Amino acid sequence: MKATAKAHTNIALIKYWGKRDESLILPMNNSLSLTLDGFYTETTVEFDDDLTEDVFYLNDEAVSGGEYNRVVSFLDRIRKQADKRRLHAEIRSVNHVPTAAGFASSASGFAALAAAGAKALGLQYSSQELSALTRQGSGSACRSVYGGFVEWEKGTKADGSDSYAVQVTAPGHWDIRVAAAVLSPDAKKVLSREGMKRTVNTSLFYTRWVESIPADLAAIKDGIMRKDFEKVGSIAEANCLRMHATTLAADPPFMYWQSTTLLIMEAVRAMRADGVPAYFTIDAGPNVKVLYLPEDEEAVQQRLRSVPGVQDVIVSKPGQGVTCM
Ligand code: PMV
Repeated sequence: MKATAKAHTNIALIKYWGKRDESLILPMNNSLSLTLDGFYTETTVEFDDDLTEDVFYLNDEAVSGGEYNRVVSFLDRIRKQADKRRLHAEIRSVNHVPTAAGFASSASGFAALAAAGAKALGLQYSSQELSALTRQGSGSACRSVYGGFVEWEKGTKADGSDSYAVQVTAPGHWDIRVAAAVLSPDAKKVLSREGMKRTVNTSLFYTRWVESIPADLAAIKDGIMRKDFEKVGSIAEANCLRMHATTLAADPPFMYWQSTTLLIMEAVRAMRADGVPAYFTIDAGPNVKVLYLPEDEEAVQQRLRSVPGVQDVIVSKPGQGVTCM
């Protein structure tokens, strides 16, 4: 009753922003991401008849409070499906993600936990079933079940059974790069869960955001198939700006960017003006990820490292989906 799984994070190029069902984590819109090989979580789940409660260690430190409760209630879903409601587990996760720098680890964390937990209890899931399960831990995590470019289909059913991710292209399809610029380790002020909720309920721009998604998705998938970097990058950058615009039009308004975020955006635009195709995208925090082609590795790294406030730059290639060991 023990299994270990490894999962990578992903960066959304068409963002998931807003839920239609809070408890089942069902999104308002489809989203599309690239799985990143540079950031991953390894998780071991061991069920043990002698345990009287779950224990959770993250990077060798015992976790309690909200983070612990989230993991336990997610394991409850797996225990229910295996009809082992009273069985407890020791969970050990190691994050190869700079969490202190504000990088989200929930995507790789929940994908690894779902895969290890299900395997430890002998549940045989298809990738789609595993993705639908993972979604209930953290929405964006359902995309980390697969490698390469991945689309999360929002689904239409009330029970969420048709809301899961599918692979668009395997990691080997296209060698592009993503540089993550690491900023100061300030904690996120508005968590994505809370930010989405406020935006759905109050943002003047939210309806237009949802309406804009199908055209963006069709165009970006066409760009990915043809390996048209400028098309993919420009759609991703515009989609990111639209997501952040919805937060500016919420009540009360909020903003994830810091001054360094804006400096990086300017540096990326300056690179383009100099003939280096590079595009940025930003999630629910101040960190910026920059898409570029392998031949521009040195130019992009140098430029990003020269931006005041950038503490580090971590480079990823397209990564693999979740694997069990
Ligand atoms: O899955 P969550 O709750 O971490 O939300 C992720 C939201 C964004 O990162 C902003 C967009 C996305 O699609 O990953």
